[in-house]
Amino acid sequence: MSSSTVITNIATLVTNDPSQGDGSPLGLVRDAAVVVDGDRVVWTGEASEAPAADDRVDAGGRAVLPGFVDSHSHLVFAGDRTQEFNARMSGRSYTAGGIRTTVAATRAASDAELEANLTRYLDEALRQGTTTFETKSGYGLTVADESRALRIAARHTDEVTYLGAHIVSPDHADDPAAYVALVTGEMLDACAPHARWIDVFCEKGAFDGDQARAILTAGRAKGLHPRVHANQLSYGPGVQLAVELDAASADHCTHLTDADVDALAGGNTVATLLPGAEFSTRAEWPDARRLLDAGVTVALSTDCNPGSSFTSSVPFCIALAVRDMGMTPDEAVWSATAGGAAALRRTDVGRLAPGARADLIVLDAPSHVHLAYRPGVPLVTQVWRRGEREV
Ligand code: NIG
Ligand code: FE
Repeated sequence: MSSSTVITNIATLVTNDPSQGDGSPLGLVRDAAVVVDGDRVVWTGEASEAPAADDRVDAGGRAVLPGFVDSHSHLVFAGDRTQEFNARMSGRSYTAGGIRTTVAATRAASDAELEANLTRYLDEALRQGTTTFETKSGYGLTVADESRALRIAARHTDEVTYLGAHIVSPDHADDPAAYVALVTGEMLDACAPHARWIDVFCEKGAFDGDQARAILTAGRAKGLHPRVHANQLSYGPGVQLAVELDAASADHCTHLTDADVDALAGGNTVATLLPGAEFSTRAEWPDARRLLDAGVTVALSTDCNPGSSFTSSVPFCIALAVRDMGMTPDEAVWSATAGGAAALRRTDVGRLAPGARADLIVLDAPSHVHLAYRPGVPLVTQVWRRGEREV
């Protein structure tokens, strides 16, 4: 039999349920409590009205939020790209070509090394409040290496994405069409059983719109749902293709035309912004304000990978989004929790309301605003996942 716990003396509770508290999208409740039973939230509201529970935890006047939902990462890899980062910070620009360095290191690594790396970054992310994460293949680019990456990832999350179409494999550099045939054929057959999603890097130096469409359509026919690396380095067809194919998310969205913004506003595709990538590549920021003002659903994620964004910290991304992308602290916190859940088409995470998964974080601060107000400070002091305290 499960036992219930009331977490009380919460100065600010972010529920992401607009029917609660102040009625804003964050559904902020002041002087609040949460009751958890087993792996679920069973009650949220003002502490003075909380029902009795078996155990009581005093949050000490701190803020409680849903755990972060990091809907975009690339964590199955070996090696790092310190030299490339150094060169960039000396003026070199970022291109898709650096991915080849990580492909070589990843192919050379054992399964145990890849899994040890993955768990290291997951633990790092958990300590910073991430309780749900998506991760991708994309550094193997052979049938065997892509499928093993997905098998390893699937031991740690349900949100696994097949990204055989990250770049054209170096083995097929002279024949991209043959690589697309592999990605949509034998590699897809080997990978589909281990993944929920299919992704493609639609970009100059990676895959064009026609190739991306063929890849995503083939994935859909095998039961995978699309998401797209779109419009990161330049204007292009990725965003509109994502909306056309009802992708759950178009990720990056850095270079958008008005028609791209209109397409996102008119469809069901979330725009996932990844400010760690612009930070680490010294690129132009995506314009979150423009998307929000157009009515687009925006998610914020880390894109954690060794090339373009080697951060596992959602709080860092929130601070960047507020400082440089025109988001308010409330919007950034929503996008890193409920927004991430929307980008994964999940309703059980990213909110704290009866029936939701009891994934929550306690900040050493009286409100969620401090995530942006106190950048770089490790404010996450407790992390609860499925009703168990893990940090
Ligand atoms: O999302 N853009 C494509 N993929 C990654 C970068 C991968 C890498 O540079 O290793 C991204 O930024
Ligand atoms: Fe990415």
